[in-house]
Amino acid sequence: MDKIFVCAVAELPPGEARRIETDPVIAVFNQDGEFYALADRCTHGEASMSDGYVEDDCTVECPIHSAKFCLKTGKALTQPATVDLATFKVEVEGDNVYVLAPAQVAA
Ligand code: FES
Repeated sequence: MDKIFVCAVAELPPGEARRIETDPVIAVFNQDGEFYALADRCTHGEASMSDGYVEDDCTVECPIHSAKFCLKTGKALTQPATVDLATFKVEVEGDNVYVLAPAQVAA
């Protein structure tokens, strides 16, 4: 696992997400000041979870068919998704957000 810079804390406000070009691609979310990282590709289809909707109940809703996943565990909570999303560890150091993830893909 590599420690990959995501962005400055100030660049990822609550309710927002950021897509990181790793393999697999990762979505990092800020839910009310807590940061979470999940595999970006919905387990049901081609949706990018970084385009999803961060909810107050610590979930993210897929932007295509509205399946909800737990931000903490990646668990698929509602249909049509039945397979959980992978989760990744997030670290905040100083003013920066990092994710512990497989190697970053060259852009
Ligand atoms: S693509 Fe995400 S629920 Fe269908």
